[in-house]
Amino acid sequence: MLLPGLLDTEAIRKDFPILDRVVHDGKKLVYLDNAATSQKPRQVLDVLNEHYEQHNANVHRGVHVLAEEATALYEGARDKIAAFINAPSRDEVIFTKNASESLNLVANMLAWADEPYRVDHETEIVITEMEHHSNIVPWQLLAQRSGAKLKWFGLTDDGRLDLSNIDEIITEKTKVVSFVLVSNILGTVNPVEAIVRRAQEVGALVVVDASQAAPHMPLDVQALQADFVAFTGHKMCGPDGIGVLWGRQELLEDLPPFLGGGEMIETVSMHSSTYAPAPHKFEAGTPPIAQAVGLGAAVDYLTSIGMENIARHEHAITEYAIRRLQEVPDLRIIGPTTAEDRGAAVSFTLGDIHPHDVGQVLDEQGIAVRVGHHCARPVCLRYGIPATTRASFYLYSTPGEVDALIEGLEHVRNFFG
Ligand code: ALA
Repeated sequence: MLLPGLLDTEAIRKDFPILDRVVHDGKKLVYLDNAATSQKPRQVLDVLNEHYEQHNANVHRGVHVLAEEATALYEGARDKIAAFINAPSRDEVIFTKNASESLNLVANMLAWADEPYRVDHETEIVITEMEHHSNIVPWQLLAQRSGAKLKWFGLTDDGRLDLSNIDEIITEKTKVVSFVLVSNILGTVNPVEAIVRRAQEVGALVVVDASQAAPHMPLDVQALQADFVAFTGHKMCGPDGIGVLWGRQELLEDLPPFLGGGEMIETVSMHSSTYAPAPHKFEAGTPPIAQAVGLGAAVDYLTSIGMENIARHEHAITEYAIRRLQEVPDLRIIGPTTAEDRGAAVSFTLGDIHPHDVGQVLDEQGIAVRVGHHCARPVCLRYGIPATTRASFYLYSTPGEVDALIEGLEHVRNFFG
C-alpha cells in the first residue's frame, strides 16, 4: 500500500534491530505501542555502547581525560537538545529523569517560590481533563499543600478541549496553566495559541507537556510562547531514564531549586548554601550521563530524517488507520476521528470485549498495543469506559502493520463470538 507522504520505512526499519523480532510461535512483531515507548535505532545503541566502552566517567568533577570527555559529551547533548527545540539558550535545558520529574520540578519550584510566582490559598492552578496522571498529580499535591484551587478544562464528545468557558477557567487568580500538547490517549493536538493568549492576559505561567509531541513533530519552544516545556527521551528513540525540562531563563534564575545536593551549588557552609546558575541549579547529584548522550544521538537521528517528514509520515499512517478501524464492526474510536490536529495514538473500544482481552489476543498474533487507562483515567471516566485499546505509530510504522492490526481485530471478534 502506497500512501502519499510516507517515509522509506524499508530503509528506516534496518536501523531498528528489534523490529526483526519474532514472537509467539514465529509471529513477526508488529510494534504499535510507540506512545508508551519508542524503539531505539542502532545509531543510538552504538553511541551508548561507545560511551560506556570509551568515555565513562562522572561529569563536571574530574580533571582526568575521561572526566573531560564525559563532560563534553554530556554538555554537547544539551547543545543538541537546545537546537532541536529552538531554545534561545542552552542554559534553559535541564536534564531530568523523565517528563514526570520535569513536571514535578516545575510544581515544586512554584511551591517554594516567592512573589510574584507563589502559589497559595488565594490562587488557582489550571489543567485539563485529558492530562496524563503526571500532569495531574503534581498539581493536586501542590493544591493540597498550598491551599490553591485546582480547576480544569473539560472535554467535548469528540475528544477535544472544551474552551467555551476559557475566561471563567483562567482568571486573574490563575498562577499557572499546565496542559498537554498532544494527548497520549485521545491523540488530540491542543490549540496552544488560544490557551497561551488567555494565560498571558492574566499573567499566568504556561507549562506544556510535550511528551507525545517532541518525538513526532517539529517542536519550537519560542513559537509555543510557553514558560516551561517538558518531555521525555525514551519516546523519541532515546534511552529511558532521561527527560528534559525547558524553562525561560529569567524564570530559572528567579525560581528556587527543588532537589539539593552535589553540583547544584556555588558554595556550601554548615549554615547555608548558594546555588549554581541554571541549568545546574536544578540538576542535583550525578545526572543520567549516558542517557543524556544517548538522547543527543537520538536527536541527531531524528533530525537526519527530518521532523516535518516524520510528522507527514505519521499523518498518512494515522489517516489510513482511522479509515480502516472505522470499517471494523462495533469499533468506537475514543478521540478525534479525523487526522487533522491529531497525533499518531488511536484509542478504541471493540463492542463489549474488555480491552485487556483485545490486547491479549492481539499479542498472540505478535501485535503489541497498550490497553488500560493509559495513565489518563479521567478521560476514561469522561467517556464512560473502563479502558481502551491503543495503537500508536511512529516513523517506522507501515500501512502493512495497520492491515495486520485490522486482521488481528477480526480475529479478536471471531474469538469472542
Ligand atoms: N505515557 C506513556 C503512555 O501513554 C507511558 O503509554
